[in-house]
Amino acid sequence: MEHDMSSPQKNKKDGRIDVFFATPGGREDRWRDLVDAAKKWAAGTGSRAAFESALNETTVIEAFHGYPGPSLMEALRDRADSDDAAGAAALAWRIASALLTRSFRQHASDWDPHSDISSEVSDVLPPALGRATAARPYFEVLIVTGAPIERWASIAAEWRRLRRPQDEFVYEPVVLGTAEDAVCAVMLNADLAAVVIHEGFGYRSRHDAPVLRSIVDSVAKKELSDGSALRLARVIHQSRPELDLYLLSDRRVEEIAGDPAADIVRRIFYAVEELLELHLAILEGVAARYETPFFDNLKKYAERPITTFHALPIARGASIFKSDWIRDMGEFYGPTLFLAESSATTGGLDSMLEPTGTIKRAQDLTARAFGAERVFFVTNGTSTSNKMVVQALLSPGDIAIVDRNCHKSHHYGMVLSGAQPLYVEAFPLTEYSMYGAVPLRTIKQALLTAKREGRLDRVKLLDLTNCTFDGHIYNTRRVMEECLAIKPDLIFLWDEAWFAFARWSPFLRPRTAMGAAADIEAWLRDPASVVAYEKQRAELGNDPSEETLLETRLLPDPRKVRLRVYQTNSTHKSMSALRQGSMILVKDVEYHTVEQQFKEAVFTHASTSPNQQLIASLDVARRQMELEGFGLVANAIEVALAIRREVNRHPLISKYFRVVGADGMVPAEYRPSGFTDFLASDADWATALRSFRDDEFCLDPTRMTLVCGTAGYDGTQFKNLLANQYNIQLNKTSRNSVLLQSNINNTRSDVAHLIRVLVEISREIEERLASGGEGERRSFAARVKSLMTDVPDLPNFSYFHEAFRHDAGADTNEGDIRSGFYSAYDAEGCEYIPLHDKEIDRRLQDGPPLVSANFVIPYPPGFPIMVPGQVITPGTIEFMRKLDVKEIHGYDAAQGLKLISPAALAKLDRVKPDYSPSMA
Ligand SMILES: Cc1ncc(COP(=O)(O)O)c(C=O)c1O
Repeated sequence: MEHDMSSPQKNKKDGRIDVFFATPGGREDRWRDLVDAAKKWAAGTGSRAAFESALNETTVIEAFHGYPGPSLMEALRDRADSDDAAGAAALAWRIASALLTRSFRQHASDWDPHSDISSEVSDVLPPALGRATAARPYFEVLIVTGAPIERWASIAAEWRRLRRPQDEFVYEPVVLGTAEDAVCAVMLNADLAAVVIHEGFGYRSRHDAPVLRSIVDSVAKKELSDGSALRLARVIHQSRPELDLYLLSDRRVEEIAGDPAADIVRRIFYAVEELLELHLAILEGVAARYETPFFDNLKKYAERPITTFHALPIARGASIFKSDWIRDMGEFYGPTLFLAESSATTGGLDSMLEPTGTIKRAQDLTARAFGAERVFFVTNGTSTSNKMVVQALLSPGDIAIVDRNCHKSHHYGMVLSGAQPLYVEAFPLTEYSMYGAVPLRTIKQALLTAKREGRLDRVKLLDLTNCTFDGHIYNTRRVMEECLAIKPDLIFLWDEAWFAFARWSPFLRPRTAMGAAADIEAWLRDPASVVAYEKQRAELGNDPSEETLLETRLLPDPRKVRLRVYQTNSTHKSMSALRQGSMILVKDVEYHTVEQQFKEAVFTHASTSPNQQLIASLDVARRQMELEGFGLVANAIEVALAIRREVNRHPLISKYFRVVGADGMVPAEYRPSGFTDFLASDADWATALRSFRDDEFCLDPTRMTLVCGTAGYDGTQFKNLLANQYNIQLNKTSRNSVLLQSNINNTRSDVAHLIRVLVEISREIEERLASGGEGERRSFAARVKSLMTDVPDLPNFSYFHEAFRHDAGADTNEGDIRSGFYSAYDAEGCEYIPLHDKEIDRRLQDGPPLVSANFVIPYPPGFPIMVPGQVITPGTIEFMRKLDVKEIHGYDAAQGLKLISPAALAKLDRVKPDYSPSMA
């Protein structure tokens, strides 16, 4: 049977509770179905049996949620039992409305089973409005108990009695009695902010949860079946580390508290003690995440009557609101923006360059949220974050293994630092004119070659992009472990510009830099790891061949590893931060050795006039994700799956467009799970999860490559069409595709709009082909062929010219990119040759070699096809000549390619710099 894990509809019949990829929208759909069934029953076109069946389905899942809760669900059942079709329809409608509009968070009447007695059932449910402004933020608390089910209502009532008017937040308890149900609730209920676990709960849920079981049974059945609160806490923490955990035990609390594993628990209580203490602790725990030290202070600052006698005339808005000529700017942005503008570093506003107050505290809270040891806020995008990390960690002559296809900030970072990039290539996706990610074998080979050549000590950094623009996610843990097996102190820089949100998905988190670093750290602490390492060492023998090392899943020596992990992210790309808001996350046992260098990097790159609003937005973006990130990311994934499903299954759209699945984006050799697509008929949850867990690369479902070449559009044309005619904006394009990205802001209405537009465009193509005759059809086919088949091969990095290779190894390609870069400053030493000039072909054939004087980066695809000092090969020229894009950074078509002249190369100082350790 076809089994679509993205569709809530498919899982309806079996009463399953583990429908994790269809969370928020799936729930809405279930309620719509229930309302429909009730209305049909009331109108005489349906039946009570059909309503009861829908009600049973809904009741199972609603048990994991605070609203509507048992008494409203019970009231619905009572109306069915008493054959009250109209009453059932009215109540179902009212509950569904309260859920969709989220009004239950403010309106007590939404919780009252009887307040609808006289209300009418409207024909349409109100649209989901998103969060209304609540007087007090609302959340839910999971209570896992060993008490019999008959006592749950009174347990919940006891919790509700603790509410006080002065509480900053309000919450509703969700009472459950087994470990399986608790794990499901944690995965399905995005409103949970805390979990209270009493000892003595059961293990098996009474509901069906085959996928959950296949996962939980294999990883934690043994751990969980003895009803240990601490073990359940550990499993929950692995899925959602942001949740506050509280344990309640009526024995051995001191013993539990002394267990080192209990550090994930916020507090441990003796069960018979005052519940009020626990209530206060829960509120305090949420307040700790709600706190935004810098933003809070900025708000206070804006309210103070301050007179300024320094720079920044727009501060307080005086220069704007008093002006006849620029007042519209003030009206557009509103006065608060200007009240919150300041160039002061006093009054609680702190200094970005040397933070000690609210910025420092905001950074520390962010480190906690991401599982890092420290965080730097950056106000000039990840373009700057990357340069800062590269500058701080590398010295002239150090070698860094770098994905040649990475963002240009890394390449420029190498120029600035004087480090030598050893370029490694990602696997090509020639069909779509894009690159994937760098295979681990390639990275290991680079390290092993450097080792063979006696230069491994010079290799300091591995610098990769995770996930890539197009959605390739590394197996970060495996990459780091295997590299550390070859070089135990290698530093990792993961550019997660697009991936900050992934921290809040249990499926994606293990594949983030910090998620993997935490797992490696735990592995390093486990005494079994040394045994595993020693066993592998004995098996490999004393002098394993390179091929053996390449073929083996290597384990590092836990006693030697120095774990040094850096992550940069464009917070503004996937969280609610203002543009250019970015962060550097650090988890480095040797940080003290580079601390001063980091300060220098901050001093080098950070503006001395950072933007207050931007810093505040980083603070607030963190708060949001810690409190609702799980649900927002689940929604983004669900939106993506809906797009994938609708595009690929729509009879008209799928004739001209398709979203590429994992099988198209990740070659089979890197996908041993066999996972093909989020929609494929043979895909199921277990395979998808295996892919997320084990495959060398998996695909971020929220990044969708939409092929438009089959509709006769190149990527840029299609992007412009969507933007100009349909108000749909997207970012990246390739020769024959555009990249759609779902985000925490997207709604199902956005999906509907996109689908409607694709139907319209497909219909136009269809009509044009039908009415245009054979000529039209032939030219369409030719255009499609040219876009989809006649694609240029992607040129690999060739090599640096001898003049820039200095002491480079015979079999590795690193080079002195900095000297190459500065050669371009010598105008006399540079020459220009037009791309299509015969001279290019002559030089390629007979020499002297063509050596690029600068970076040449075409958009799309956006990777440098030439870097300074690189020897240009026929493949690169062919690619450039075939490339029909207008925007090529570093290339002026009127002048031609900028090259370092043979004379200048000859003159270059051949005295090789000394990179011996004492000089580095
Ligand atoms: C992989 C990667 N890293 C870094 C950046 C630069 O980030 P920002 O735009 O925040 O400067 C980008 C921008 O697109 C990117 O794709």
